[in-house]
Order: sequence, then structure tokens, then C-alpha cells
Amino acid sequence: MSTVVRLETRGSVAVVCVDKPPVNALGRAVRDGLQQAFEQVRDDDGIRSAVLHCAGRTFVAGADIAEFDSGAFDGQLFHQTLDMIEGLDKPVVAAIHGTALGGGLELALACHSRVAVPDAKVGLPEVTLGLLPGAAGTQRLPRIAGASLGLDMIITGKPISAKRAQEAGIIDQVIKTDLLEGAIAVAENLAAQDAPVRRISEMQVDPATVPASLFDDARATLQRRPTGNPAPERIIQCVEAAVKLPFAEGVPVEARLFRECLNSRESAALRHRFFAEREAAKVPGLPKDVQLRDIRRVGVVGAGTMGGGIAMNFANAGLPVTLVEASQEALDRGLAIVRDNYDTTAAKGRLTESQVEERMALLQGSLDDADLGDCDLVIEAVFENMDIKRQVLARLGKACKPGAIIASNTSTLDVDALAQASGRPADVLGMHFFSPANVMRLLEVVRGAETAPEVLATVMRLARGIGKVPVVSGVCYGFIGNRMLEPYLRETEFLLMEGATPAQVDGAIQSLGLAMGPCRMIDLAGVDVAAKVVQENRKAGGLPDDPAYRAVVQKLMAMGRHGQKTKAGYYRYENRKPVDDPEVMQLCADLAKEHGISRRDDISDQEIIERCLYPLINEGARILEEGISYRPGDIDTVWINGYGFPDWLGGPMFWADTVGVQNVADRLAHYAEHRGDAHAYWDRSALLERMVSQGLRFADWPFSDR
Ligand code: 3HC
Ligand code: NAI
Repeated sequence: MSTVVRLETRGSVAVVCVDKPPVNALGRAVRDGLQQAFEQVRDDDGIRSAVLHCAGRTFVAGADIAEFDSGAFDGQLFHQTLDMIEGLDKPVVAAIHGTALGGGLELALACHSRVAVPDAKVGLPEVTLGLLPGAAGTQRLPRIAGASLGLDMIITGKPISAKRAQEAGIIDQVIKTDLLEGAIAVAENLAAQDAPVRRISEMQVDPATVPASLFDDARATLQRRPTGNPAPERIIQCVEAAVKLPFAEGVPVEARLFRECLNSRESAALRHRFFAEREAAKVPGLPKDVQLRDIRRVGVVGAGTMGGGIAMNFANAGLPVTLVEASQEALDRGLAIVRDNYDTTAAKGRLTESQVEERMALLQGSLDDADLGDCDLVIEAVFENMDIKRQVLARLGKACKPGAIIASNTSTLDVDALAQASGRPADVLGMHFFSPANVMRLLEVVRGAETAPEVLATVMRLARGIGKVPVVSGVCYGFIGNRMLEPYLRETEFLLMEGATPAQVDGAIQSLGLAMGPCRMIDLAGVDVAAKVVQENRKAGGLPDDPAYRAVVQKLMAMGRHGQKTKAGYYRYENRKPVDDPEVMQLCADLAKEHGISRRDDISDQEIIERCLYPLINEGARILEEGISYRPGDIDTVWINGYGFPDWLGGPMFWADTVGVQNVADRLAHYAEHRGDAHAYWDRSALLERMVSQGLRFADWPFSDR
């Protein structure tokens, strides 16, 4: 008898319960258990109908994604189980709570009826893993929900509510009382009717309901927004098959295309991303019984670009926020920008007026630190200046109540020095939000030398609660993301001085799939901001003794070319469109002359990609060897969620395995030889050397276990 799938009888109703925490994923044991349970339903003459439900927090949330890598997933056998369930003459009712996702919804669609609690959700999110539904979901969903909604749900991967699913016919009944009792009543009722069961596979999509241009439009949309994800194009083919072919012929089409996706490098990368994001939330070495602190009220100091966005995160989650500024004028300006942001969201129909008012009511402005006294967490987001921040931390150390957590949103400064300034370093850590702070999912959580374990654990949990993807970083210049950005931007500028244009550099980087090349990125973030970071880093002694280092950004700043906001930076902006500007090309040529850099006209896209990204990977390896980051997957999570690195490449460290660590090391050596290595720009990290000599990949981490 299965340990994860139980069968009990309630009169003539078999109640089949899947009980495999945390999300009842369809691993081998669950698949086998379902097969056995429904064989019993089939063979036991005393059973006239069945209910399939799940224990714990959710209905089946899909196939066990880990099995795709281990090779344990057997799609064909699972198909047979689903066909067996659907083929029963005894009605089977799926009782859904939580989320019926992927293989979970496919399982429910093989049942003859579906009921759900009001807050349940159903969806086929396989596309987010570079897959398509591989258990006949592409064939059954369009048959029950129509081709348009079916295609939309599968290609976007977005789940829909129980209400919407009921309107679409996917769910037959929403049950507001006890789900299991309600489902049993439905099953008894269906059995009593003695009518033939309804099998979705026997239904046909009515051609009259399929818009003539549905598939052409979907393909055109894909062409307009190309992606390296192999699934969307194949999903269109599958849904087309569902419309045009009988079920028995559509299923093999789906099976073939599913296998193609499953075997692709891109799907492997997206699956890596799924697990890496979840693993990043786990902090090694934290005591299991660590007592989390309660966070009921949050304080934010500084209501500028970041402070306002940070405050919105908490208000959106229903937490009251005290926002402290240095002057009434700055406070009014900050609150007005927050209101503007909410109003814009409301204008798009994504918030109601009353929701806007509710959220604004949670924000309380103040000019007095004493008002932070009842906050459980206070985040400072004042100017990026060590002296100012030290003063603010010292003030917060006194103003915050005992047990309150104090965080800094600094993007580069020494969190340990700030922690000391507070006088209570155990309560302090970094919470590095990304701009716009209310939108970007990444949160680097910077663990100081003296940060208390429960402080770190509390912030990691809180971060997930406000919808962020938290990643722990140790203390170093720029933490994980901005530190790795440094060599990337360094090479960008050398390439420009050697003769590449901003459009050429950006084009090469974007051809790889990054959302934005480095020149466009800095123009957007602000050339002045970027130049100031370099200046501060130089002051702090963090830069090599190389006058050519990031010379372009300094010059642009001095010329008042601050980026998009001044309509000129690395590019000139014509109607917000970036165009290469002869003035910038001349400036780069002048700088090359000044610094003795040879000009060339043979810079290829491949060279740009290697020179910008391989040193970035090398820096990632250093970050691992220094223990700044716990795992390569954490670094990938940072780059995907904070810097527009394509998820279907899996992040820079996963991508390094794809292009080969040996290759990365060889090319670093090549550039050391050809470009000179006076400032150790091309020196390979000890970790990379070790990986090469031992034939290791980042996927083999942690190496010490070997
Ligand atoms: N397979 C394996 N593990 C899974 C899983 C799955 N399908 N879904 C969740 N998990 C694991 C997570 O890795 C995590 O493990 P951990 O505790 O060790 O870190 C744990 O379950 C809890 O997951 P979350 O932290 O994500 O929990 P949430 O409550 O925040 O979210 C959820 C729950 C909405 C179900 C979310 O986990 C989720 O979206 N899961 C993936 C759903 C999915 O993509 N399903 C399709 C799978 S592919 C498929 O079905 C193919 C089929 O067509 C053949
Ligand atoms: P900003 O200049 O827009 O806002 C700073 C605000 O702090 C101003 O409104 C100012 O009046 C206020 N302030 C200054 N001193 C104060 C004090 N003593 N008490 C109360 N308020 C005070 O700056 P921005 O961009 O919001 O940056 C804030 C912090 O966030 C910096 O540490 C920065 O490095 C970091 N950061 C910025 C990012 C960005 O893209 N702008 C991204 C990630 C982090």
C-alpha cells in the first residue's frame, strides 16, 4: 500500500488522498500510489464513485521538477494512469484547494468533474520552466476551456482564480463550505444519475469558437518579443493540434514537443533558476529553532527614489510604515511620488481607488526620529555617503526600541562600519533593494560580521512575505551584483576606447539575451550616479592605479551628459531612442590617445561578449571563494532578478558551465596575453584555477564535499 496516497471509503465513495508534503508533487511514489488507488476503485464493486483530494496546503502543484534532471520522470506511465482514471465508468471528482498547477491540473482534467474552494487557483505554468504541459494538458485544457483561453493560460503560464475557472468551465462548482464533504456529495450525485461520465478527451473544440487568426497572432507576438525559451512556439503547435486533431493524435504531438523542450539546455537553465531562487532563501548554519522577531511596523529613513519605493513594498503587504525625512519639503515630495505611483497603477486598473487610499493611509510621514520608536524594523535610505550614513545609524541606534532591526539600503558602503556606528551591531544588516524598489524582485540581504542569526532569519522571511527574492551576501564592496558589474563596465569602457561604439557593445550583449547592454543601462541609471560610484571607490582605495579605468564615464559626467534624463549620455536620445553620437566616439578616441590605448577596427561581437562577461564570471568565482556568496545559484539569482540576465541562460555561473569553465579560463589567459595584464585585470581566480585543474563545473558546488 502506498505511503503517500491513501484510499478510504465513505459508503460507496472512494476518497483518495494524496499526502506528500510540501506541495504534493507528482514524484514516482505519488504516481505509483495514484495508479494503485484507482485500480482499486476500478476493481472494487462496492465503489460507485471517487473523490481525489490532497492533504496539506495545496492540491498537486505539478510534476516533481527534480525528477526532470534525475531522469526519474516517466511521462508515458503517467499518461497511462491518467487515461485509466478518465477511462473509468465510475465518476471521479477532483477536489481542489490551494493551487492545482501543471501535472496537478492535468490530473484534475483527467477526472470527470472538478470542484474547488473559492481561493483556489489553477494553471499550467510549465512554460516558466521552459516546458509545455506534458500530461495531455495542451490537449485537454483547450477542449474544456476553449482554444483562446487554453492557449493564453499555457503560453503565459499564469494561473487563474477558481471563479474565472468556473466561468470557463474548467471547474464545475465552487464550494464555500467543507470541500471534501461537498466533493463527496457531488460524486454521490453523479453516481446516482447513472449517466455516462464526461471525458474531456472525447470532447472537441468547436471550430466556430476559434478566432481565425489566433495562432498567427500568437506567432507574431512571439516574433515581436523573441525569447530563448523553447516552449512558447511549441505550445502554439500543441494547441493547434488540439483544435485540429483527434485527442489520440494530438497527444503524440505533445509528447514529442515536450521531450524536445525537456532535453533543451534552456529548460535545464530555467529549472535551475526555479530551485536556485528557493535555495537562496535558505541560510546555511542558522540554528533550526531560531526565534524570529515580529515585524508589525516598519520605519524608512529618507523618502527619495529608493525610500519611497521601499515603503510601498510594506504598505502593499498591509504593514504600516513611518517615513522619516530631513525636511518637510522632501517628505511632501516623497509622499507625492508614492501617491503618483499608486495612481498610475490604479489608472491601469490594477488597483481600486479605495485600495490606493488604504495603502496611502498606512504611510505616516514624520520629521522626528522619535516616531520610529514603535517600529520593529527601520531601513535607512539616505544619501550614499559614509559620514551621513554613520550619523543616521548612530541616531537610529538610540531611537529604535530594543529588539528592533536596523537595516541600511547602501549599495556599496561597508555594512560592518555602519553596524558599529549604531552601537548595536547585532541588530544591523544590509537590505539592498534595487530600483524601482517597489517593482524589482531582488533583495540582497547583507550579513554583517556581528549580525544576529535571528535578525538575518527574520529579514529573509519578511523578504519573501513582501514578494522579494532574497539572496544573502557577505560584506564587500558592491556586494554580489555591483561587485561583479565592475569588471563588466571596465571592459565596456576599454572596448569603447579601442573603437567599438556603444550600439555595438550593447548589441553584442543584447544578442545574448540580456535585457539591456551596459551603455543603455548606465544611461538609464544615470551617468552621474555611476561616475560617483567610481569616484567613491577610488577614494576608498578600491581601484587599480590605472588612469584609464572607467575614464569614459568620468568624462561624460563632466560634460553634463548624465544619461537619458539629460537626453545624452553614452548615446544621444532622439525621441527617447538611443543613437550613437559622433561626439562620444570622438571623446573615446581622444581618451584612447591620452592613455596610449591602440585603436582597432576588428572588434567582434564574440570579443565583446567574452571581454565583458568572462571577467564578471571570474569575479563571481572570487565571491564564492571568499565566502561572500554561499552558492553559484545565489549569484545566478542575483543576476536574473536584479540585472536582466536571461533566465533561460540560467544566470552567469550556469552559463559559464554551458560555455565551459575551461573555455572561460582559456579566454581570460588569451586576453591577458593580447591586451596586457599590468593591472591584473585578467588574473584568474584561485577557484577558477582549481575548477580547471580538477575538471569541476559550478553545478558541482560545493566542491569541498568531493
Ligand atoms: N516539484 C518539486 N518541488 C517543488 C515543486 C515541484 N513541482 N513545487 C514546489 N516544490 C518545492 C520547492 O522547491 C520548495 O522546496 P523547499 O522547501 O525545499 O525549498 C517547496 O516545494 C515549497 O515551494 P515554495 O517555496 O515555492 O512554496 P510556495 O508556497 O511559495 O509556492 C507553489 C507553492 C505555488 C506550488 C510553488 O512552489 C510553485 O509554483 N511550484 C511549481 C509549480 C509548477 O511549476 N508546476 C509545474 C511543474 S512541471 C509539470 O507539471 C510537467 C507536467 O506537465 C508533466
Ligand atoms: P535620493 O537622493 O533620491 O534620496 C535620499 C533621501 O534621503 C533624500 O530625500 C534626502 O532628503 C533624505 N535624507 C538625507 N539625509 C537624511 C537624514 N539625515 N534623515 C532623513 N532623510 C535624509 O537617494 P536614493 O537614490 O534614494 O538612494 C538612497 C540610498 O539607496 C543610497 O544609499 C543608495 O546608494 C541606495 N540605492 C540607490 C539605488 C538607486 O538606483 N537610486 C539602488 C539601490 C540602492
